[in-house]
Amino acid sequence: MTAARIRLWELPIRIFHWSLAAAVLSAIASGLTGGNWMIWHQRLGLVAVGRPAFRLVWGFAGPTHARFSSFWPTPGKVAAYLRGAWRGIGHNPLAALSVLALLGTVAFQASRGLLANDDIAFNGPFYALIDKATNDAATGWHRTAVNVLYLLVARQVAAIAFHARIKRQNLIRPMITGWHEGQGAQPTCGGSRHTLAFSLALALLVVYAASGTWLPAPVTPATSPTMDW
Ligand code: HEM
Ligand code: HEM
Repeated sequence: MTAARIRLWELPIRIFHWSLAAAVLSAIASGLTGGNWMIWHQRLGLVAVGRPAFRLVWGFAGPTHARFSSFWPTPGKVAAYLRGAWRGIGHNPLAALSVLALLGTVAFQASRGLLANDDIAFNGPFYALIDKATNDAATGWHRTAVNVLYLLVARQVAAIAFHARIKRQNLIRPMITGWHEGQGAQPTCGGSRHTLAFSLALALLVVYAASGTWLPAPVTPATSPTMDW
């Protein structure tokens, strides 16, 4: 059934998006500031770690428009979009490429952070599990991958501005209200309370695993008796 107003993004997807954007932007700011802000950097980074896990579940069991199968960017779809022949709602094939790259880069960036060090006083929670050379390589990747993140976020904001000015299409409103104004099919499946409960539980589990709080406390060497001369 087609309608003139479509429920495009359900509340969990909208909360997921804006909280991911806030966590990633504040993780970048705190990481660049360094010093005492590194404690907050770790917390914000951990918030970001759980998000791709949450989105993975919604990509398979969420409402129609949130499913990977609805917007998976096959070469045929990308070519049709570039020819101006793609008709659909939700992420267009180019936006879909950037969405998948964003999710992958956030997961990669945060996972390298767990192994990284700032060579001063702050180490990721899994720092002690590997040797210094691997720590330094992870730190290098952590510094490099953030540039990919800058490019992807800049591409997203530029694409939104392009759609607003040239195509007269507001992409931000549906990401705030959930509603897309235009003809199309209403979502027909997915996004149940069970999906929500399962995706939240998985995200929390990933955050807990990444926090390293389950690791045994490091053994502090026994202090040798001091001589009081
Ligand atoms: C670090 C910052 C950001 C990250 C990591 C990010 C990530 C994402 C992701 C993963 C999606 C896909 C949503 C989904 O299908 O679940 C998305 C879509 C979207 N984002 Fe962002 N985002 C960021 C910043 C922003 C900003 C600042 C804006 C507003 C200017 C914005 C507006 C949108 C819109 C409108 C969509 C839907 C695009 C479409 O209809 O295809 N995002 N973003
Ligand atoms: C998506 C999430 C994250 C983003 C966007 C991010 C971003 C950044 C940025 C921009 C820097 C500064 C790099 C520089 O000075 O050139 C940084 C440094 C750092 N981050 Fe993250 N980070 C994230 C997650 C994490 C996590 C979860 C940890 C683990 C605790 C972590 C650990 C570190 C460490 C140890 C440094 C210092 C590395 C250095 O001195 O270059 N990060 N991060």
